[in-house]
Amino acid sequence: MRERDAFAYYFEQELSRLKDAGLYRSLSLIQGAQEPRVAINGREVIILCSNNYLGLANHPKIKEAAIKSIEKYGFGSGASRLVSGNMEPHRELEERLARFKGTEAALVFNSGYHANIGIISALVGKGDVIFSDKLNHASIVDGCLLSKAELKRYPHCDMDRLERLLQETEKGRSGATEKDLTAHQFANSPIRKLIITDGIFSMDGDIAPLQDISVLADKYNCVLMVDDAHATWVLGINGKGTLEHFGIDNPDIIQMGTLGKALGCFGAYVAGSRKLIDYLINKARSFIYTTSLPPTVCAAGIAAIDIIEDEPQIRQGLWDRVKFFRKGLKEAGLNTMQSETQIIPILIGEADKAVRISRSLLDKGIFVQAIRPPTVPEGTSRLRITLMANHSLDDLKYALDTIKETVANFA
Ligand SMILES: Cc1ncc(COP(=O)(O)O)c(C=O)c1O
Repeated sequence: MRERDAFAYYFEQELSRLKDAGLYRSLSLIQGAQEPRVAINGREVIILCSNNYLGLANHPKIKEAAIKSIEKYGFGSGASRLVSGNMEPHRELEERLARFKGTEAALVFNSGYHANIGIISALVGKGDVIFSDKLNHASIVDGCLLSKAELKRYPHCDMDRLERLLQETEKGRSGATEKDLTAHQFANSPIRKLIITDGIFSMDGDIAPLQDISVLADKYNCVLMVDDAHATWVLGINGKGTLEHFGIDNPDIIQMGTLGKALGCFGAYVAGSRKLIDYLINKARSFIYTTSLPPTVCAAGIAAIDIIEDEPQIRQGLWDRVKFFRKGLKEAGLNTMQSETQIIPILIGEADKAVRISRSLLDKGIFVQAIRPPTVPEGTSRLRITLMANHSLDDLKYALDTIKETVANFA
C-alpha cells in the first residue's frame, strides 16, 4: 500500500471508530450574528451553548469601534508585535486591561490557547514541576506538555492531594534527576514550581478554591497562575474575575483571561507585574512568533470593556438568568454537577445518549451541544448549557420546560 493510501485508510478507520463510539464531531453552521436566537439550516433556534455570556458579540458600539478602527488602521497588522505589528490599539488595549485588572501591566495574546501555551512554557522548563488541576482546560495541558516540566495533576479541586504532591516534591525533588537539574536553564538555582488552575472550570461551571490554593502556593513557594477565561467580566463585584470573587489581593498571582467569551470579542491577555510582562515579551514563543492581532480586534476589545464598566447591570442580568435556570433544572431532579456559574452542565453519562438528546432538542428549537470524551472524562458526557445576559425570559422558560421533558423521555 502506498503511504498516502495508508493514511487515507487510517483516517477512515479512526473516523468510523469515533462514529461507533458516539464520539464523532462535526461542525454546526450558524447563519447570522451571535444573538440569543440564531438560524441553523434556515431555522431559528435558541442558542444555549455560546460563551458570549454578556451578549456583546453583536453590540452596536463594538461594531462601530471596529469599523472606525478599520478606517484608520486598515485590517491586517502586517507582522508580529516585536517586528512592526505593534500598533496603537495593541498598546491601548493592554493599558486598559491592566487598569481594569489593577495590575502593573498586561500583555495581549492572539487567543487563550496561544496565551496558555506561551506563558506556561516560558515560566517553567525541564527540571521544574507543574501542579495542575485534572479538569484544567486542554490549552493548559498542552502548555504543560510543551514546557517539558514534570506534570503533576491533582484530582479536581482536591486540596489535600495538592498539598501531598507539594510535600512529596519538597522532600524528594520529585524524581528530578541530577541530570535534569543540571540541564535546567538556571543551573544551581532551586527548581521552579508552578500551580495552575482554571478560575471557572470550562465544562463543569464550578469555581476553583483559589484562596486555599494561594495559601498552599505561599507555603510551598510556588508561582500561582489562574486561567480566568470564563471568569473575567463575569465573577466578582466589578467582573474582575476569580481573585475579586474571593477578595484576594495578591500581585504575585499571574492572571490570564480571554476576550473571546464574556467580552464577545477575540484574543486573550495576561495581567501581572511589569517584570513578568517584559519577561514574557522576551520568552513566550506563541507571542513572539506570530502575526499580531488585527488592530480592529483590539479596538473592539476596548469598546467592550467600556460597555462593561459603564453598564454593570448587564452582568447582573446574566446572574439573574443563571439563578433562575439552574434552580429550574435542579428542581426537576437534573444533575447540574457542582456548577455555580453561567456554565451549567446536565450530566447524562453515555456519549451516544448525550448526542441523541442534543439532536432531539435541536428538533424542538434548542441548540445545546453534547460534550463528550476526550473533552470530559469517560462516562461523564453532558449537555453543557451556557447562558447569556440577553436571553429573553420567555425563551429560557421554554428551554427549561423542553429540556426537562426531553431528558426525562430518554431516562
Ligand atoms: C479555560 C479556558 N482557557 C483557555 C481557553 C482558550 O481560549 P481561546 O478560545 O481564546 O483560545 C478556553 C477556551 O475554551 C478555556 O475554556
